[in-house]
Amino acid sequence: MYDLVITNGLCVTASDVAPLDIAIQGEKIALLASSGSLSNQGKRVIDADGGYVMPGGIDCHVHLQEPSLFGKGTSADDYESGTRSAIAGGNTTIVTFAPVQKDTGSTPLGVVRETRALTDGQCYCDFSFHVLLATASPQALQEFPKLREEGISSVKIYMTYEALKLNDGDILSVLLAARKNKILTLVHAENGEVLEWLTNQLEAAELFAPKYHSHSRPPILEAEATNRAIALSALIANTPILLVHVSDIGATARIRDAQTQGQPIFAETCPQYLFLTRDDLDKPGFEGAKCVCSPPPRDKTDQAAIWAGLQNGTFAILSSDHCPFRYDDAIAGKKTCITESHPLGQFKYIPNGLPGVETRMPLALSAEKLTLTKLVQVTSTNAAKLYGLYPRKGALIPGVSDADLTIWYPGKLEDLTIRNAMLHHNTDYTPYEGQRVGNWPRYTIIRGRVVWDRDNGGVVGRKGYGRFIRRDAAVDVWEEVREFDLEML
Ligand code: URP
Ligand code: ZN
Ligand code: ZN
Repeated sequence: MYDLVITNGLCVTASDVAPLDIAIQGEKIALLASSGSLSNQGKRVIDADGGYVMPGGIDCHVHLQEPSLFGKGTSADDYESGTRSAIAGGNTTIVTFAPVQKDTGSTPLGVVRETRALTDGQCYCDFSFHVLLATASPQALQEFPKLREEGISSVKIYMTYEALKLNDGDILSVLLAARKNKILTLVHAENGEVLEWLTNQLEAAELFAPKYHSHSRPPILEAEATNRAIALSALIANTPILLVHVSDIGATARIRDAQTQGQPIFAETCPQYLFLTRDDLDKPGFEGAKCVCSPPPRDKTDQAAIWAGLQNGTFAILSSDHCPFRYDDAIAGKKTCITESHPLGQFKYIPNGLPGVETRMPLALSAEKLTLTKLVQVTSTNAAKLYGLYPRKGALIPGVSDADLTIWYPGKLEDLTIRNAMLHHNTDYTPYEGQRVGNWPRYTIIRGRVVWDRDNGGVVGRKGYGRFIRRDAAVDVWEEVREFDLEML
């Protein structure tokens, strides 16, 4: 007898869709067999009833308990509420950030240890961290080999935000060190100087409302920075980079072009660029602040380009960029930017970011714009490959892969509408309030344990069950990358 059998489901992986039973022994996938053949071979049997059964969702862009970027404001979710929300949305692993700040003496290894301490006994799902690098100091870069020993294989850098921004020389130094250590560099591409200039212009014209967040960061500013990041990667002999939260058609075209030329440029997009537009920032009063994130949501034409980019492989990854701040909160949330002189706040002080870890998978499946295999690729398998979790995560390989699964309802749920009240984050709103979806994760299973059972108790997993997962170098990314030499230039 196997510990757990999932019978009668339609099994979907990154490459195949087939009616298969899945047997789980301990924490691992043990066997895939023809549908119905294992239905009496489990100590526990879950009848998937014809619903899709997939590798568990991997959301590799989640912000929890980070120090504020905007002076005021504190992330609404900690590791407990963030991972609780993650499992209720079909995620089995998340990757969050361990932030190295400028001029504070913090170091990559130090912040990894500090962030691990925050997770102690708190997490419902498995997790890892990207190191968020706000410095290219030699001290920070010389810790890269040790990061790899600690199981960290990615760093994120910013081309904007005074507190985090790296200049072009710094970026080159990071790329060089990352290349030597097979660390993938994630890039937040927005031109910080142009953004600052535009913000000053808008403020001088007394344009402070939330919608001007969008005017302060027009698409060209993202496309320019994207182009520059790609050029810097090319300069260091095609060092692989991954552009995060890409929002607009111009940046998408530039990325596609570089990929067509054979450059190792990878990209991620997020649901806010598929389901929201700049009009959502122009709601009455201060409401638009709910959708303030960076880059901001764009137009319908951009949305169409982003969907096409997911379909044609320009974007390897769809993650949430979950970065929640409470809306009706003047102490730690969006309303910290409201003062007597600015009753609608000042857009430049609105904490940037949206909640989304729980809604990512249901929104993506319900849109019915991606084939089922593509859906698994962009919500799970590609993240596992690029972030060095594969094939332990993101796959269903017997004897090798962890038994991490998301099981959906059969057919469509006709009357399911997203309401904040049904979500498990610690935020007082969702930007997707009122959005109809056709399905929701019915079960989430992590390393063989059911942690989310929507019809029988909801969150049934145990806080603290989630484990830190050591990550390796990205799969299929570094093979062609040779040692960099100045003679190459
Ligand atoms: O607005 C956003 N995206 N907030 C999160 C921080 C980041 O840059 O990803
Ligand atoms: Zn970012
Ligand atoms: Zn982010």
